[in-house]
Amino acid sequence: MKYLSHTLLIAAGSIIGTALGSAPSGHTVEPVKSKLTFARDVAPILYSKCASCHHEGEVAPFSLMSYDDARAKSLTIAAVVQQKFMPPWHAVSHGEFTNDRSLTAGQIATLTDWAKAGAPAGDLSKAPIPPTFSSNWHIGQPDFSAKLPKPYAVGAEGPDEFRCFVVPTDFDKDRFVSEVELKPGNRKIVHHIVIYVSTTGEARKLDGKDGKPGYASFGGAGVPVTGILGVWAPGLQPISAPQGTGIMLPKGADIILQVHYHRDGKAEEDQSEIGLKFSSRPVDKKICTTLFGTSLISIPKESTQAETAADMYLSTPITIYDVFPHMHMLGHDMQMMATLPNGSKQELFKVNNYDFNWQTRYIYRNPVHLPTGTHLELIAHYDNSTGNVRNPSNPPKTVWFGEQTTDEMCFAICNFSVDDEHLLANKGHLGGIAVPGKSQTLERVFDRFDTTHSGFLDVAQFADVVNEYQLGKGRSPGRYNPKAISAYFIGLVGKTQKGKISKAEFISQLLITEFGN
Ligand code: HEC
Repeated sequence: MKYLSHTLLIAAGSIIGTALGSAPSGHTVEPVKSKLTFARDVAPILYSKCASCHHEGEVAPFSLMSYDDARAKSLTIAAVVQQKFMPPWHAVSHGEFTNDRSLTAGQIATLTDWAKAGAPAGDLSKAPIPPTFSSNWHIGQPDFSAKLPKPYAVGAEGPDEFRCFVVPTDFDKDRFVSEVELKPGNRKIVHHIVIYVSTTGEARKLDGKDGKPGYASFGGAGVPVTGILGVWAPGLQPISAPQGTGIMLPKGADIILQVHYHRDGKAEEDQSEIGLKFSSRPVDKKICTTLFGTSLISIPKESTQAETAADMYLSTPITIYDVFPHMHMLGHDMQMMATLPNGSKQELFKVNNYDFNWQTRYIYRNPVHLPTGTHLELIAHYDNSTGNVRNPSNPPKTVWFGEQTTDEMCFAICNFSVDDEHLLANKGHLGGIAVPGKSQTLERVFDRFDTTHSGFLDVAQFADVVNEYQLGKGRSPGRYNPKAISAYFIGLVGKTQKGKISKAEFISQLLITEFGN
């Protein structure tokens, strides 16, 4: 990221250079005349659009909370807003998301012209008062909160670490959660956090077994889960369930914070914290989470436009509240389209210049209603070339699905509710929401590995799929033995024929993982 911002600033610097007008010889540069002032025009933008990250102790490297702060950075500010590097916002469409951080063309012009005019202060006594931030909870006092019992030590060297911390809850009845907030303990190393819910009690048994807080888990929570309570990544706001809906927390559940640590070259410690608020109003619909996407990913080295796609048909009407595109370092763009049964098309989101460091949950201003039969398509492109400054491998390597930063993912994680569900009228929804689509690659992949055309894959054949798409041929599987993964997966999913997985089972499992239904 440092490298990227550096490159960007060089590019941005040249833009400013041009904008300021490097004078042809013999001419003097006229300073741009502008009536724009910090006090009247600039402060309101910085305080509403920048200060939430640019203040002491927050994620950004410097504050933008005073005239002096802003003047010192004025040219850089102009450069980064013109480049749309700041504020971080990667959705192509604007306006339909409540958490839209982007600036209007007018605001960009104001910041740029003000910088060009020499960053005049104006009457500072009339400037708006800088916003106040507290390190307290953004959701207000939580009804329930828990901090990692001890700071967790993350060494200076080594691969990324995935550590699960267990927060046992001992509520004697199911509760509906209305708001979830995570406070990462150390923003330098906490890359992202996924909050899982598990009711089997296995997580608390694993906790501390290796002598350190929590337990290691590479792929997901490492225990069966009933749902995802939320996701935190830099820049994400707390999760808030729309009125009349709630996120179910089953009684006696374990909350598992799976923290992805990305080392910064120094020994660090982290003590992250979670806070929950419970719904105070009646809940008619559960919030469900789906990971729509695919784990069949294989991105050739040096490809700049490698495509990965998935599709499905809704088997019940749903309402989507937000969407969270998730790829890793090579992800370039992702788009989700809905084709309604009447043929009309709707773009659900499009993210361009995807930036792993700015994972964002895009929250719809107007929740999106989608009828039964809607065809949902997800298309993502990856840039695995040397030219991609974010590429973690130099020279590039073929990349497969996986949880390491050097692996890839392709998910649109959506929070939705099922329209036919009315808990207040005792009408629940059981079962899935979608059936796999026809155009996606899963069927072809299955057929390729089903060499005997039996309609089933056995452990060895499925291990080949795991090898090719999830571990990578020739990649040392270490303790992630493809045969063992294959046998485990088939044991879990292969219900039609013992020791095998049918085509339908394969497709529905690899296409979509549903939670919370
Ligand atoms: C969601 C958090 C967030 C918001 C909102 C935000 N920034 Fe930033 N800003 C950052 C972070 C973090 C960095 C450090 C670079 C990085 O990691 O991407 C940064 C870096 C910068 C830099 C230095 C860039 C460089 O490469 O040196 C400038 C200038 C800047 N921001 C200006 C702004 C302005 C102006 C706004 C509002 C219009 C804004 N930022 C809004 C988080 C934010």
